[in-house]
Amino acid sequence: MADTMITVNHLQKNFHKTVKQKGLSGSVKALFRPKFETFEAVKDLTFDVPKGEILGFIGPNGAGKSTTIKMLTGILTPTSGFCQINGKIPQKDRKNYVKDIGVVFGQRTQLWWDLPLQETYGVLKEIYKVPDTSFDKRMAFLNEVLDLQDFIKDPVRTLSLGQRMRADIAASLLHSPKVLFLDEPTIGLDVAVKDNIRQAIQQINAEEQTTIILTTHDLNDIELLSDRIFMIDKGTAIFDGNVKTLKDTYGKEHTLNIELAESVKLDFVKFDKAVSVTQNDTTVSVKFDSSQITAPELISHALAHAPVKDVSVVGADIENIIRRFFRKEDLSNAETF
Ligand SMILES: Nc1ncnc2c1ncn2[C@@H]1O[C@H](COP(=O)(O)OP(=O)(O)OP(=O)(O)O)[C@@H](O)[C@H]1O
Ligand SMILES: [Mg+2]
Repeated sequence: MADTMITVNHLQKNFHKTVKQKGLSGSVKALFRPKFETFEAVKDLTFDVPKGEILGFIGPNGAGKSTTIKMLTGILTPTSGFCQINGKIPQKDRKNYVKDIGVVFGQRTQLWWDLPLQETYGVLKEIYKVPDTSFDKRMAFLNEVLDLQDFIKDPVRTLSLGQRMRADIAASLLHSPKVLFLDEPTIGLDVAVKDNIRQAIQQINAEEQTTIILTTHDLNDIELLSDRIFMIDKGTAIFDGNVKTLKDTYGKEHTLNIELAESVKLDFVKFDKAVSVTQNDTTVSVKFDSSQITAPELISHALAHAPVKDVSVVGADIENIIRRFFRKEDLSNAETF
């Protein structure tokens, strides 16, 4: 078994929120004598990440992903519990620890706004004490992977979002960290740049066995990159496993699309509750549970009863599965984590 790189143990973060009291007098009171209530942003999270794994850390807005990453990177102190990365506790061993990690917050650049990118990398070289020879090699490598040369002389404030994100990722990797935290590294990017960034992440991980925690709302990122998904909702873990398990367990809903040569009413009454059918003129869509009924059964029924022109079967995509997950639908057989 691979070495454990990240250990998260009963990690908890509470924030104090001011409680709004009713009416104008309430607002005045709140101003002078605010009432606080405790809000648990991250609740009792426990998980390990082995060396070299890409963990997809997902959940809806406000689930507690960034708060967790901030604790793992040492920006925030946990209320209780602890995390340990490469044998170090981020909050205790901050100076040494920052050498082990790279961090990208997609929502906010870590770069200096007015400095040309190249100079930014020069400053980071000094901060991380990267020797000249390794720096040149590293820059050449990052340039190749992230395609920086067209804008490396430009000040950061003039970069497009896609260029800025590539620049940020390069900055986080300059000192060859063992662990990389990517908080929404593809947010707001077009498909081509997303692709470029995904390939870069994959290449870094493959060549350097970098352990990566990746948060994203783009589930294609997860499908293409993650070995494992850790899902949280309202601060609590709700799924920990690989993409295949998620699909096998919750992705049984398929859709059979049928195109008819002429408009004939096609009924699936004999299949009863196993299917749900919508027909629009010559287009028929049959939703079915693949554990109860098979596509060939449905197709032969259709062929026997109507002039079928074309058929296609679509499996549940990860987006649908996760949407259902968060709506708590169809989870009668869900395991609790
Ligand atoms: N410094 C803070 N003080 C008070 N509440 C906070 C603070 N930081 C985060 N929160 C709250 O904690 C909860 C979790 O926020 P967090 O940013 O971790 O969510 P997230 O999963 O990253 O969401 P998103 O997908 O929108 O980025 C939210 O309800 C947020 O309002
Ligand atoms: Mg966030």
